[in-house]
Amino acid sequence: MDMQVSKSGASPVLRVEGLSKQFEMHHLRRTLYAFEDLNFELGEGEFILLKGENGAGKSTLLRTLYRSYRPRAGHAFYHTKEGVIDLAAAADVDIAVLRRREIGFVTQFLNARPRVAAEEVVAEPLRLAGTPHAEALVEARRWLAAFGVKKQLWPAYPSTFSGGEQQKVNLARALILPQRLLLLDEPTASLDHTARKALVDRLTELKASGVAMIGVFHHPEDVAGLIDREIHLKAIKIEDEADNVVQ
Ligand SMILES: Nc1ncnc2c1ncn2[C@@H]1O[C@H](COP(=O)(O)OP(=O)(O)O)[C@@H](O)[C@H]1O
Ligand SMILES: [Mg+2]
Repeated sequence: MDMQVSKSGASPVLRVEGLSKQFEMHHLRRTLYAFEDLNFELGEGEFILLKGENGAGKSTLLRTLYRSYRPRAGHAFYHTKEGVIDLAAAADVDIAVLRRREIGFVTQFLNARPRVAAEEVVAEPLRLAGTPHAEALVEARRWLAAFGVKKQLWPAYPSTFSGGEQQKVNLARALILPQRLLLLDEPTASLDHTARKALVDRLTELKASGVAMIGVFHHPEDVAGLIDREIHLKAIKIEDEADNVVQ
C-alpha cells in the first residue's frame, strides 16, 4: 500500500509503517490475517476515518495501536515531546504511561468500577492529571450534562444505569481530558441524537486544539466535517495449514 502522507504539513503524531497483525487459530490450524502492511501518517489536529466491512480488522487496528495487541510486524512510531517511541515494541510500563497521559481509547462500553459515583468516574482522569478534586467534579458535571445524563444520576453508580446512560458516562470520561491521540471505535453506536451531537462538538473542539484522531464511526455522516483522510481495510484472508487461501 502507498504511504498516505498528511498534506497539511501538520507535525506528525503517528507514523505507521508495514504494520501487520494476524491471529493464529491453533485449534483450527489456520492463520487469520487481520491486516497486512499498513502505512499511514497522522499529524496534529488530523482526523482519519477508518472504513471497512464487518470483520475487516478496524477494531484490531485500533487495539494494536493502543497495544492491547502486539503486531506481527511493522512499526507505529508515536511522537512525544521527548522523542519517538515505537508502540509496536515499547515496554508495557511505557505504554501504561502513554495511556494515562497521551493516548485515549474511546469505545461504546463503560468499564466502571463498582460503587463509584458517575461524577467521580468522569472526574478521575482530571484528578490523576493533578486537577483539585472540587474543580474536577465541576468539570465532570459539565460534561455529564453536555452528554445528556440526568442530574439525579450524577451521584449514582453507573453499574445501575441503562446501556445508553453508561455510554454517555463513558464518553464524558474518555473525552474530559484532552489527549494527543484519540482512538475511537464506534463511540456513537446506538447513542441518541443529543449525545451524538455532544460527541461531535467535543471532537471538533479537540481537533481544533491539535488532537490527532483515528476512528470507526457507525454514522460517518456525523463526523463528515472532521475527516482529513480515509483508510479502507479489506476483509481478511484465512490461510489453512496447506497454505490455501480459503477466503
Ligand atoms: N482476539 C482475537 N482472536 C482471534 N481472532 C480475532 C481476535 N480479534 C479479532 N479477531 C478476528 O479478526 C477479524 C477482524 O476483527 P475486527 O478487527 O473486530 O473487525 P472490525 O472491527 O473491522 O469489524 C475478525 O475476523 C475477528 O473474528
Ligand atoms: Mg469493530
